[in-house]
Amino acid sequence: MQKLKEAARIIQFADFAIALTGAGISVESGIPAFRGAQGLWQKYDPFEYAHIEAFVHHPAKVWEMLRELDLIMQKARPNPAHLVLAAWERENYLKAIITQNVDNLHQAAGSKNVIEFHGNAFRLRCLKCDRIYARDEIDLTQSVPLCPCGGLLKPDVVFFGENIPIEALLEAKAAVNACDVMLVVGTSAEVAPANTFPWEAKKHGAKIIEININPTVLTEEVTDIFLEGRASEVLTQLAQLL
Ligand code: APR
Repeated sequence: MQKLKEAARIIQFADFAIALTGAGISVESGIPAFRGAQGLWQKYDPFEYAHIEAFVHHPAKVWEMLRELDLIMQKARPNPAHLVLAAWERENYLKAIITQNVDNLHQAAGSKNVIEFHGNAFRLRCLKCDRIYARDEIDLTQSVPLCPCGGLLKPDVVFFGENIPIEALLEAKAAVNACDVMLVVGTSAEVAPANTFPWEAKKHGAKIIEININPTVLTEEVTDIFLEGRASEVLTQLAQLL
């Protein structure tokens, strides 16, 4: 309880608190994480299904996984963890969320300043003419959804082998540089460059509060307060202390 109270005090008196979120925050909304026992990468080899080269050369195969994920995301709703972060933005405790998730759940929960570091699966982009479509505009039952221009349509998310969208990168770096508190919620911190942000924040003196069901590579090295538990539970407890 002591750690919860200390974390709540840090958040309460922060000048510029931000959150870095990963798949773990959406597990309680029914979306599997990527790593760990039930992780998506246990079922699908990321280099065969989540690398841009795999998508370009075997689009029908990759779309099989993408359609499965799309069905799950269509059914998913924000859980209390997303709702608490959205409330903290309204109450001016939280200035921004950098999310690695593409499930749109922070936005659905009401968060406004969401930096979509790995894109958003509710948009599709044409690899030929670069036109963007809302997911609902496209019939995903086709084995390989195509743009009217004939180009391949891909969810507007960052595959392995692709760059982070420059706007998201610049916005994220600005938020990291400005923060004096970083909440790191539900990420294994195994994927760059998102996983460098807690280190960068720590370097300029920010307090790092990590919420996860397991310790991560950050916990010993960079985390100031590690709150072990499910994101919805821990964030709800913190919200009651603010
Ligand atoms: N509450 C809090 N944390 C949780 C919960 C939960 N209910 N369930 C799982 N976790 C934690 C796990 O312990 C793990 O540390 O969430 C983390 C999920 O890690 P990953 O599956 O690696 O997800 P993430 O860190 O977001 O992956 C980063 O990798 O595959 C790419 O682009 C993909 O954005 C993704 C990136």
